[in-house]
Amino acid sequence: MSQERDNWGSKFGFIMAAAGSAIGLGNIWRFPYLTGTSGGGAFLIVYIICAIFVGFSIMLAEFTLGRYTAKAAVGAYKTIGPQWTFVGFMGVLTALMIMGFYPVVGGWATAYIFKSFGSLLTNPDTAAAAFGPFISGVWEPIIWTIIYLLLNVVVVSKGIAGGIEKVTKVLMPVLFVLLVVVAARGLSLPGASEGVKFLFKPDFSKLNGSVVLSALGQAFFSLSLGMGCMITYGSFLSKEENLVSNALLVTIFDTCCALVAGLAMFPAIFAYGIDPASGPGLIFAVMPTVFAHMGGAGKIMGILFFIAFTFAAWSSSISLFEVVIDYFIEELHKTRKQAVTITTIIIFVLAVLSSLSQGVLSEFHILGANVFDLLDILTDKVYMAIGGALLALAVAWGEPKQDIYNEVTNNGTIKFGLFNVWYALLRYIIPVVVAIISVTGMLAHENRALIGVGLLSIIVMAAFSKKMSKN
Ligand code: PHE
Repeated sequence: MSQERDNWGSKFGFIMAAAGSAIGLGNIWRFPYLTGTSGGGAFLIVYIICAIFVGFSIMLAEFTLGRYTAKAAVGAYKTIGPQWTFVGFMGVLTALMIMGFYPVVGGWATAYIFKSFGSLLTNPDTAAAAFGPFISGVWEPIIWTIIYLLLNVVVVSKGIAGGIEKVTKVLMPVLFVLLVVVAARGLSLPGASEGVKFLFKPDFSKLNGSVVLSALGQAFFSLSLGMGCMITYGSFLSKEENLVSNALLVTIFDTCCALVAGLAMFPAIFAYGIDPASGPGLIFAVMPTVFAHMGGAGKIMGILFFIAFTFAAWSSSISLFEVVIDYFIEELHKTRKQAVTITTIIIFVLAVLSSLSQGVLSEFHILGANVFDLLDILTDKVYMAIGGALLALAVAWGEPKQDIYNEVTNNGTIKFGLFNVWYALLRYIIPVVVAIISVTGMLAHENRALIGVGLLSIIVMAAFSKKMSKN
C-alpha cells in the first residue's frame, strides 16, 4: 500500500519545525541543570565543541540520508542495507523511551503555567517548596501529563504540513522572544554578573569522563540526533533545499537557545543566592523563587516563562511522536489514526510509570534506577550517542561517496567546500571519538549495570537486523 508522502510547505516552515524539535526540555530544563552540576563554563566549552563537530555533522548526515531515501528512520536504514535496519529500529525505541518521561516533565511545565496564575509566585519562601510535593503526588501530575499528551495528539493527528509545521512556525519565534525578555530582566538584577561568570568562566577541575559523556549525550539529546528524528524530518524535504545551511541554522538556533536559557536562569539564581547545583528540579524549584522575588512583574514573567517552556517541550515531543508514528505507517502499513492510537497507548503507560516513580514508585528500581531515570540514562547515555555513531558509519560506509556528495550538494549546484572534512568526520573521526567518550563515560558512571544491559540490547538488535528487514 503506497501512501502519498506529505511535504513541508515552505523553507521557513521546515526550519521552524526542525528547530522546534531541537529546542525543548533539553535546552531549557536539562542544559541549565547539567551546567549547574558539572562546573559551569567547563561543561559549556565541551558542550559547544560537541555541538559543532559532532552535532552539526550528524545533523547534516541525517538530513542527507532522509532526503536521499525519502523514508523515515527504519525505512531509510533498510534502504542502505538489511544489516543497518536495527539502527532505525533503535531510533524508534529511543523515541518511545524518551516519550516515556518527556511528557511527564511537559506536564509539570503545563501545570506551572496555571500554578503561576494562582499563588505559586507570591511568596519567595514557599515558591520552591511546592515542587517536591507536587511531583510526588499520584493524580495531579498524571492528569497534567495526560493534558500535555493530548496537546501532542492533536498536532500529530494532522500530519506534517497541516499540523506540525503550522504550530511550530508560530511557537518558535514567540519562545525565543520570551526567553530573551526573561533573560534581560535577570541580567538587570544587582549581583547578576556572578551568574554570567559561572556560565562562561570554565572550572576545568570539574571535568572527568562522566562529564564529557554528559556533554556529548546532551548534544545528541538537545539537537534531536542519533534516533532518526532528523532523518524523518529530512525525508519530507524538497530536493531544492540547501541541506548544509539548514543543518547549520538549526544547530546555531539550538545552541543560542540553550545559552539564552542559561542567561535567563543563572544571573537571577546568583542574584538571589540560590544554589546552581540543585539538579533536575532547578528550573521548577528555583525559577518560581526568582519570580516571587520580583513582585508583581515577576508574576507576569513567570507566566510567560512557563508558557515558553511548555511550547518548547511541545514542539519537540511532537517530533518524537512522529518518528514512532511514521514507523507504524511506513513499515507496518497502519493508517495515521491507528498509528497515533497505538503510539499514544504505549507512551501513556510508560509516562504514568515515570510519573509515579517520583512518588509512590520511587523505591521500585530496575538495575539501580527508577523508571524515569532508567529511560533517561538508557537514551541519552547509551542509545543516542551510539545511534549517532552508527548513523555516521551507515552514511559514510554504506552508500557510495559520489551519491552522498550529489545529495548534499544538490547534484553539484550548491558549494560545500568542507565536504571532504565532513565526510572524514563521519567515516572515521566521529565513530572513534564517540566510542572513546562512551566507554570512558560509561565506566565512570554510577549505573554501570544498567548501561551494560543497554549495550547488550543493542548487540542483540544488531544480530537480528536482517530479520527485522523482512516485513
Ligand atoms: N531535542 C529535544 C529537546 O531538547 C528532545 C528530542 C530528542 C526531540 C530527540 C526529538 C528527538 O528537548
